[in-house]
Amino acid sequence: MMIEEQEFSKKIDFKVWKRLLGFSKPYRSLMIWLVAQMIFAGLFDAVVPLFSKYAVDNIVLASRPDRLILMSIVAVLLIAAQAVNVRYMVLRAGKIEAWLPYDIRQNAFDHLQKLSLSYYDVTPVGWIMARLTSDCRRLGQTMSWNLVDLFWSGFMMLITAIFMLILDWRMALLVLVTIPLLVWISFVFQQKILHNYRQVRKYNSHITAGFNEGITGARTIKTLAAEQEMADGFGKTTSQMRNFSVRAATTAALYTPLVLMLGAIATGLVLWSGGIRMNQTGIMGMTYGTLAAFVSYAVQFFEPVRQFARVFTELNYAQASAERIFALTDTVPAISDSEQAINIYGKQEGEEGKAEWPAFAGNIEFENVSFGYENGECVLENFNLKIKAGETIALVGETGSGKTTIANLACRFYEPNQGQIRVDGIDYRDFPVMWMYSQLGYVLQEPHLFSGTIRENITYGRSDVSQEELESAARTAGAHEFIMHMDNGYDSEAGERGNRLSAGQKQLVSFARAILSNPVLFVLDEATSSVDTQTEHQIQQALSRVLEGRTSLIIAHRLSTVRHADRILVIDNGIIAEQGSHSELLKKRGYYWRLYTNQIVKGSLTE
Ligand SMILES: Nc1ncnc2c1ncn2[C@@H]1O[C@H](COP(=O)(O)OP(=O)(O)OP(=O)(O)O)[C@@H](O)[C@H]1O
Ligand SMILES: [Mg+2]
Repeated sequence: MMIEEQEFSKKIDFKVWKRLLGFSKPYRSLMIWLVAQMIFAGLFDAVVPLFSKYAVDNIVLASRPDRLILMSIVAVLLIAAQAVNVRYMVLRAGKIEAWLPYDIRQNAFDHLQKLSLSYYDVTPVGWIMARLTSDCRRLGQTMSWNLVDLFWSGFMMLITAIFMLILDWRMALLVLVTIPLLVWISFVFQQKILHNYRQVRKYNSHITAGFNEGITGARTIKTLAAEQEMADGFGKTTSQMRNFSVRAATTAALYTPLVLMLGAIATGLVLWSGGIRMNQTGIMGMTYGTLAAFVSYAVQFFEPVRQFARVFTELNYAQASAERIFALTDTVPAISDSEQAINIYGKQEGEEGKAEWPAFAGNIEFENVSFGYENGECVLENFNLKIKAGETIALVGETGSGKTTIANLACRFYEPNQGQIRVDGIDYRDFPVMWMYSQLGYVLQEPHLFSGTIRENITYGRSDVSQEELESAARTAGAHEFIMHMDNGYDSEAGERGNRLSAGQKQLVSFARAILSNPVLFVLDEATSSVDTQTEHQIQQALSRVLEGRTSLIIAHRLSTVRHADRILVIDNGIIAEQGSHSELLKKRGYYWRLYTNQIVKGSLTE
């Protein structure tokens, strides 16, 4: 699924910029320095033509070569000062460019950790990646280089205009009358360019998403021999993007010569009227030096205009980037601590003056729970289930019947849309979310390992684990054997997403991880589906020890895993179709019995 690049406001939104400035607070003094330096740089550029005017009038025309030395010294000093200024300006801007995106990215990343699973169900990873990379980068550039350009251009134009007016206001007006025309042309063209770039960006995000699927799904695409189709779809998108890019470039290519032409006309006017006035005397008279200065001013006056137009476009993008990042960081986690939970337990464990986090006995009760995923159908309707502390519950049933969903709800990864889930008799929404999570050991249906060593993967998030504890957990999980066979034992690399391990080995490692966390509630979702029957048998034996005294939910297709459960629930379409112990269910000769005999016939069941 793909979310369309949201259309954000096109007007300048001061609220967004205020927030952005908030992020640049740590760099306030850097920025003030930067602005001051830019004023100096702009001033310098505006003074240079005055300098040449003086040289022409008072040295060349006045035939005073003796003044040349002094003049040269001053010129060299000024240029040196500007060089130093520019050096530090680039340094400061570079610092802001590097640091600001880092802060924003960190902030967004922290927030991503808080968001609930439901956010990831509807938000493509590519979209999130683009926010954390290109949008953050753009903000860094804007708050540094575009700021430099903006102030530099602004001051240069302002000071140039003032100097021209002081030198000769009549002539200055000749140049300044072009401004309204300039503004109009800039406005019209920027709108066009902006529109095309928006389209380009839209296709760009389609392409990023396409990359994502094309790369992560490379194996599947190959086995389906779907490369051609994939390439065709991708090609269509890229060619549309190319069209808009070309259009944007064509418009931009027209704009620059237009501005240059206006500049040339203004310069021509200056030369023409100056040439006439050169021969006049009195107030209409003009020195060679003044004319030379004016020609320089007329040319340099138009340079910042183009900068301006570009910077405004950049600012527009930056605003859109900021809006998208804020949209991410403003997303309220679907599951968060309720007001009541915060009142009682505080925002973190052990907050002063707040109640201590209670122990969890392990009673879980679904009462009239209805639930459906976002944009999905109802999976559970009026579902009732009571699990006593220490009970081992097995969930079996067809694919898509709702087993994982029930486990997810019990763990509070999702919350019911209607009804209640009570833990030890109290609605779990009255507890801190982290309280519930800290009681869990969950072996996911598709276990996720992180890049890092096996040791890090098992002890994930804990530094106080001894080698004995580690090994004992791994042994119980049946993982010790294969880990010892690896090159570096527990210090072997698992690879990105654990891809150096087989599917079954990944399950065993995450099983060990869950055992080590010593949870009250144990959830095993198809935890042994990818291991051989021999290993499964071993785990079976260990499991009975591990699960003692804990509440557990075991989901399995292979029924040998579940036959020792206290209670087996057969889930069909979100409903408990049958329940009872293994022998009770066999006696019923219902769904479970059919499933069981089927598996015996196929020989996939071990005793
Ligand atoms: N993240 C999700 N977003 C939207 N719909 C989902 C999501 N996860 C599951 N579903 C839907 O909810 C229903 C129940 O899915 P669930 O994962 O609970 O099935 P299951 O019993 O665990 O199946 P399996 O044995 O294949 O693991 C399915 O129809 C599925 O399409
Ligand atoms: Mg499942």
